[in-house]
Amino acid sequence: MAPTPYVQPVSKSTAVFKDDIFKGKVLFCTGGGSGICKGMTEAVMRHGANATIVGRKFDRLTAAAKELESLTGQVCLPVQADVRKPESIREAVRQTIEKFGRIDFVINGAAGNFLAPIDGLSENAFRTVIEIDLFGSYHTIKATLPYVRESKGAYINVSTTIQYHGTAYQAHVSAAKAGIDALNRVVAVEEGPRGVRSNVLAPGPISGTEGMERLTATDENGQLLVPHEPAPSGRMGTVEDCGSFTVFLFSEVASYASGGIFVLDGAHENIRNQMVPYPEAVLDAEGFKKKLAQAQEKIDAKAKSKL
Ligand code: COA
Repeated sequence: MAPTPYVQPVSKSTAVFKDDIFKGKVLFCTGGGSGICKGMTEAVMRHGANATIVGRKFDRLTAAAKELESLTGQVCLPVQADVRKPESIREAVRQTIEKFGRIDFVINGAAGNFLAPIDGLSENAFRTVIEIDLFGSYHTIKATLPYVRESKGAYINVSTTIQYHGTAYQAHVSAAKAGIDALNRVVAVEEGPRGVRSNVLAPGPISGTEGMERLTATDENGQLLVPHEPAPSGRMGTVEDCGSFTVFLFSEVASYASGGIFVLDGAHENIRNQMVPYPEAVLDAEGFKKKLAQAQEKIDAKAKSKL
């Protein structure tokens, strides 16, 4: 009989780090109103930082900020802004400086995703994801850099692992995230001599997130069209895993970590299959789209109602 595989325990807390390591520090996080980036913000706030969270929907941001404040006892400023618009990010930075007087850490997390083959991607669809992910990161770096230089702070750019291999239905995201990986290295090299660090956090599948929902091909009954392969670590990633890694990367113990791309996926990318049935979904994109349609529509409607 084959032995039962070992399952890595879930990282449930950041208690291995001292409570006050980020006391007096300020985090600026795009996409911080939900999902992975909200969890990353919570983890940093739990160690004493105040934070600004930036997103498109003010109601969702305000609710998230209140929740983060009550969970951590720190101050969280919600600022409505679209990372695609440099002036709105500059305004979010201005409000952060007015409120907190400094920025030490930046998380570039705002992202957009959906499953579509190149054939089914309009120019606007491709541009939209490049603008949110890549231009959004660039705009945020530009707007925050003077303050991050002053505090000798650090960036975490949230990327993915899908661009490491050709992933069908992910041309837009693969191109955007590969750009972010490259941008990260240049920031690390140009800003390192000024005391600024920049790293990429590249999570694999993280349970319970909108990204996971969008990238899981299901039919109208919610049935998986491609079975999930379990990661070698024996479990899915969690938002808490991303939070713990964020605390590590922003902390002084990671002071030599810069220009890095840190994959957080329990070795999943090494054994990952395509995200859609392959090659059926590329040979008959129309047929596959029909299978996907209702599930995708529900996800889009849910996302739109949150905007
Ligand atoms: N397949 C093909 N094209 C799609 C699509 C899909 N599933 N979803 C959107 N598009 C296209 C639209 O048709 C539009 O192109 P068009 O003008 O040529 O018709 C273009 O993408 C922009 O869509 P729109 O809905 O106008 O953009 P938006 O700014 O309102 O939303 C998205 C941006 C599309 C990225 C949306 O999915 C979103 O807001 N996502 C945020 C949340 C998210 O993705 N989280 C997961 C992060 S991993």
